[in-house]
Amino acid sequence: MLKTIEYIDGVVRMIDQTKLPLDKEFVDCKTIDEVGNAIKTMVIRGAPAIGVAAAMGVSLGAHSIEAKDFDTFYSQLETMCDTLGKSRPTAVNLAWGIERMKRVARENKDLPIDQLKKRLEQEAKTVCDEDIEINRKMGLNGQTLIESGNTVLTHCNAGALATAGYGTALGVIRAAVEQGKDIQVLANETRPFLQGARLTVWELKEDDIPVTLITDNMSGHFMRNEKIHAVVVGADRIAGNGDVANKIGTYMVAVLAQKHGIPFYVAAPISTLDLTLASGNEIPIEERSSAEVVSINNRRITPEGIDAAHPAFDVTPNDLVSAIITEKGIARPPYVETLRKLAES
Ligand code: MRU
Repeated sequence: MLKTIEYIDGVVRMIDQTKLPLDKEFVDCKTIDEVGNAIKTMVIRGAPAIGVAAAMGVSLGAHSIEAKDFDTFYSQLETMCDTLGKSRPTAVNLAWGIERMKRVARENKDLPIDQLKKRLEQEAKTVCDEDIEINRKMGLNGQTLIESGNTVLTHCNAGALATAGYGTALGVIRAAVEQGKDIQVLANETRPFLQGARLTVWELKEDDIPVTLITDNMSGHFMRNEKIHAVVVGADRIAGNGDVANKIGTYMVAVLAQKHGIPFYVAAPISTLDLTLASGNEIPIEERSSAEVVSINNRRITPEGIDAAHPAFDVTPNDLVSAIITEKGIARPPYVETLRKLAES
């Protein structure tokens, strides 16, 4: 199985997602700052993968600290975590991964520092292994919503590459295929970073799952012509009321799906829920460089001097979301109640 991210011999190795699918290269991170930089530059991306990278980054940071007493160790670790936490704003999994590691450090404050560092390394590896397990459970839950013969539309890449393995939205599709269902996938190319065109179609092809690439502006056409039976996407952060932040363009797909009576499903682990937020209006939306809009593969496609906007995510209001699939079960409206119940179960 493809390894998106691995912790081997004190090095965090990631497949470089900026180079796929043309080149299969790996980036080795030896410091927490290198992990932060890999997150910022999208070498690794996708909410759960960012959470795993964060946990591994904190472990690298812990190993680099020379202090021998817990208070000094922890205060230096916190400073590093604060910097790492600023690498990308929207996916809550980043803060989740960092907070989990800080909690484990606090819970083991009486260990000698060398043992504490090993404990943190073990925790980071556990976060990675658990993510794959969670995705498999989510897939099994979600595949019950997909029937044999369905064509499923997905947006962005919520697959193995966006997680430690298997994927969230693509995990649902993989699980349906593993159950023997005949599934076709339509993948939106996902301008401007092209996660669909570069990553989703690549990993589905590797698994021999039938996929057709479409440009983002084609989904309405295929819905109107009854060629799409369900939409399944991932999420970067889900507010307490079920509003969903995901890749820019997701909202547009959800509006179209509702107009055509097509179910719109979101697959995300419990770690993507942010129940501290009452609504999606409070979710910070990352603004990325306009260079990613005016150029493709570093080749300019617009005249010089054109302003381009680049919000990297949008918020889909909960009334457009038919169900939220998690590893603990499927939540239906009213999400204020059902998400909390799932999170606490
Ligand atoms: O900017 P990206 O590529 O990190 O955005 C990724 C997405 O929006 C994914 O759909 C989301 O993280 C879910 S991944 C399982």
